[in-house]
Amino acid sequence: MMKRISDPNIQEFEVRHLETVKQAASECVVLLKHDGSLPWKNIPTVALYGNGARHTIKGGTGSGDLVVRNMLNVEEAFEQAGIHVTSKAWLDAYDQTYLFARQQFLNGIREQAKAQNTNPVMLGMGKVMDEPNYDIPLEAMGDTAVYVLSRISGEGSDRQATEGDILLTPTEIRDILKLNRTYENFILVLNVGGLVDLTPVLEVKNILLLSQLGGITSEVLVDILKGESYPSGKLAMTWAPIENYPSTNGFGDPDDTRYNEGIYVGYRYFNTVQKVPTFPFGYGLSFTHFEQECQAVVVSGETVQVKIKVVNTGNFKGKEVVQLYSQAPQGSLDKPSQELIGFAKTEEIAPGQSDTVLIECDLNQLASYSSDLSAYLVEKGNYQLLQGNSSATTKAIAKLTLRDTVVLSQHTKICPGWDFNDFVPETRAEDFGDSSKYHLELSPENFGQSSMTYSPASQELKKQEAFSWDKVVAGERSVDDFVATLTDEELAYMVVGMYPEEESFMVNVGASSQSVAGAAGETSAKLSDKDVPTVVMADGPAGVRISETYKIVNGRIKPTSNPLAAMMEFFSPEELEQMASMAPQPTQEELDAATYYQYATALPIGTAIAQSLNLSLAENCGRVVGEEMTLHGIHLWLAPALNIQRSPLCGRNFEYYSEDPLLSGLVAAAVTNGVQSQPGCGVTIKHFAANNQETNRFVSNSIVSERALREIYLKTFEICVKASNPSAIMSSYNLINGEHACTSEDLLTIILRDEWSYKGIVMTDWYATQNIMAKESGRTNKHDVASALGCVQAGNDLIMPGTEADKLTILEALQSSAPPYGMTRGHLQRNVANILNCILKLAGK
Ligand code: BGC
Repeated sequence: MMKRISDPNIQEFEVRHLETVKQAASECVVLLKHDGSLPWKNIPTVALYGNGARHTIKGGTGSGDLVVRNMLNVEEAFEQAGIHVTSKAWLDAYDQTYLFARQQFLNGIREQAKAQNTNPVMLGMGKVMDEPNYDIPLEAMGDTAVYVLSRISGEGSDRQATEGDILLTPTEIRDILKLNRTYENFILVLNVGGLVDLTPVLEVKNILLLSQLGGITSEVLVDILKGESYPSGKLAMTWAPIENYPSTNGFGDPDDTRYNEGIYVGYRYFNTVQKVPTFPFGYGLSFTHFEQECQAVVVSGETVQVKIKVVNTGNFKGKEVVQLYSQAPQGSLDKPSQELIGFAKTEEIAPGQSDTVLIECDLNQLASYSSDLSAYLVEKGNYQLLQGNSSATTKAIAKLTLRDTVVLSQHTKICPGWDFNDFVPETRAEDFGDSSKYHLELSPENFGQSSMTYSPASQELKKQEAFSWDKVVAGERSVDDFVATLTDEELAYMVVGMYPEEESFMVNVGASSQSVAGAAGETSAKLSDKDVPTVVMADGPAGVRISETYKIVNGRIKPTSNPLAAMMEFFSPEELEQMASMAPQPTQEELDAATYYQYATALPIGTAIAQSLNLSLAENCGRVVGEEMTLHGIHLWLAPALNIQRSPLCGRNFEYYSEDPLLSGLVAAAVTNGVQSQPGCGVTIKHFAANNQETNRFVSNSIVSERALREIYLKTFEICVKASNPSAIMSSYNLINGEHACTSEDLLTIILRDEWSYKGIVMTDWYATQNIMAKESGRTNKHDVASALGCVQAGNDLIMPGTEADKLTILEALQSSAPPYGMTRGHLQRNVANILNCILKLAGK
């Protein structure tokens, strides 16, 4: 039940949820290097350095950010744990340097905005301040030092392969190396959302990828160093020098980005071409050691089941992840040297003890897509089953032999127009021969063969007499019947979100709901006179992003805090003052009105959740979100975000899970199951699809082959859709092979509805049809923004957050005999039916 909370103090649910997240968070942390000295247990003093010591980062910026009640930085967390911080002089001096650099950075954005006559917030969105260089003496007392290195990024901008972002600065390199040599105990802690190139500091003995864990980030670090918890995460993305990723070349082109590497994304590339990364996909150490032993491999129906015993052979408790990969034979299609097909995390294992995990893998995953034949094939030959605790330590455990090629499914061609041949490796890593213990035969019965049926175009519904929504809720009449009673105007209103007609754009960007303060959007209230309720949407994936406080004035919700307040720093103090002076003075009623509180729990970033390789942990994060959605009156969460981490340069990678579609899709499905276990709560998986860069994001074109789309970029969504039935999907801003994702019938109807039998709604990303970023890019773009009519026709049900212009365009098209994109009333009615079904399911009456 939704609850208005007038008590300013921390609530029982917040305490409980913080505890849930804290319990889980160390599983998201990856130990990259370890000299055996960790954990330190007794730490009387610590010399604390680095840009993240005081400016600790809980997650990235933009819509994936969340305001929390309070958060300790690392310095405060050490002190709270009774550990004396000896480096105050360094921290104070760094603060001075930081403040100066920050001011310079903000002034730069403000000046550029003035020169371009544009809004500084839109221009500065996601921009990262490069770390300054400085020379502050490292002389703090004690034998234990911790260096916390932070990096931040966020939507609207990509990361840069420059010093202070992906690369370390000369100052950071010098200081980290010196500390590693000077202090007896030293650890480099990475409070980052993605890659930093650690090549210059690899001699450091202890490196911990703490990641960004939400409000409890700093406490988790202290617990781990003291040995009260332990890291058990594994990398969800390959870490290597940035120039070694095939995606680096051409990344971030504002017009056209070619995905030349095809299916060779992440470890699929590094393993196949035998390029050794700094840290491989699936890698992560423990405070202890484990040995894995395969005890059985059985093929049964469409699965292969593998039993692995894991023994803790070290001296500290821990959890280990068993990873299974397959190596397909090279046939008519080239194949990566290995692909993840399953994984399992053990329970906590005490020293000397063991745990046995059973992993069941779907054999249909062995298929590859042939664009020539438009079919998924399992080609004949030997399939090696590989087991390991990272992608770099796999060994063959079974050989599965298929005598004849099996065609799993025949498809229609989608998203044509890529203008290159995908990269094909000249050689690939050695295959594993006959080294495995188990040899098993596969036959066509071990695969699911299916045929696709493609639905005909939507027919117009015949006009019906009006009746009330109650009858639909009671199950007496169908949603389609109800849609058939609606006028053109009502239909046009319903396919655009509720837009606040009288308020300014800037106040409402990312917070345009009328029912819940600070929620990102809401469906139209046009049918409220027919008792049709609205569905309210709030951002994620960091948690439920809404205003922390609000009032009710004249029966209307009035946010009294801005969930995007952090972005306001791009305005100069004068501009802020001017805005404040222009804002209407609060009325007496407003001053007298009670304040309500709607705090929410900040979760670990998406990448960190994936690093746990623990699906029940991911599901629990979803449950936390679902409970808070119910309390705060939210129906649809605008998350999880599961785009593939194609390149470390993508500014939003921290919101995303992995470079691997299986890991990413299963984590998203687990989070979805958690959220949707709460009645009335749904997720909106985003951004569908191939949205892998932020540069010029409204109009950038991802040029990608059909095979790479189907096997990598769509696959992650396919896994999530089929495993967890998400209530909604957000289409992405970008184009794919020249067509916007949100106007692509291939994606939104052929793939989603026909091939995957998806039943939920599809909505656009915010303002996808409006040219709001044109000025910021400061250039003439090659591609236009998406067309509202194209959205309606393609099967993008809802245009968010909604504008009068979109509604008028649609109404006008209904009057035209030849509307652009061939949009018809039938398309509109189909979309409204999908929206009403969503309303019925989540908001009911
Ligand atoms: C982001 C989405 C987000 C939406 C609403 C857009 O700018 O790309 O991920 O859900 O805003 O805040």
